[in-house]
Amino acid sequence: MTAKPRLVLSSDHADIPMRQTIADHIAAQGWEVIDIGPTTPESTHYPKHGEAAARRVASGECQLGIILCGTGQGIMMAVNKVKGIRCGVCSDTFSTRMIREHNDANMLSLGARVIGLGLALDIVDAFLSAKFEGGRHATRVDMIKAIES
Ligand code: RB5
Repeated sequence: MTAKPRLVLSSDHADIPMRQTIADHIAAQGWEVIDIGPTTPESTHYPKHGEAAARRVASGECQLGIILCGTGQGIMMAVNKVKGIRCGVCSDTFSTRMIREHNDANMLSLGARVIGLGLALDIVDAFLSAKFEGGRHATRVDMIKAIES
């Protein structure tokens, strides 16, 4: 039996129910989902939730990560500070497919106050199904990695 691929989910307080629905949606597709919260709606600080998720991806514990905040922007900025993370905010499925196929993104950020749940789930599906194309794109991703070192 092969192990399930593992994905970490995190957010701030912006839309916890959206994050939990996304977790169920991904788990139903055969992923092991590690939802690291938060679970209560008090205002909280997106950088710490983003960093916690990013560390699990950067360490290799999780292959992919999905994060949410109100706009998706602040938490994306936080996770991209962690070495090895490539994350984009997406509000459409084309950009989502591209950040996997061309940029080898390992995290996706969603703006919970920007998009509705139906689009969020379509974007998640696009993120999970797209594959990095390599080739000339690998050269460019290597250039991104070189900036980190
Ligand atoms: C929280 O109010 C809000 O600032 C946060 O969810 C996010 O949008 C930040 O980028």
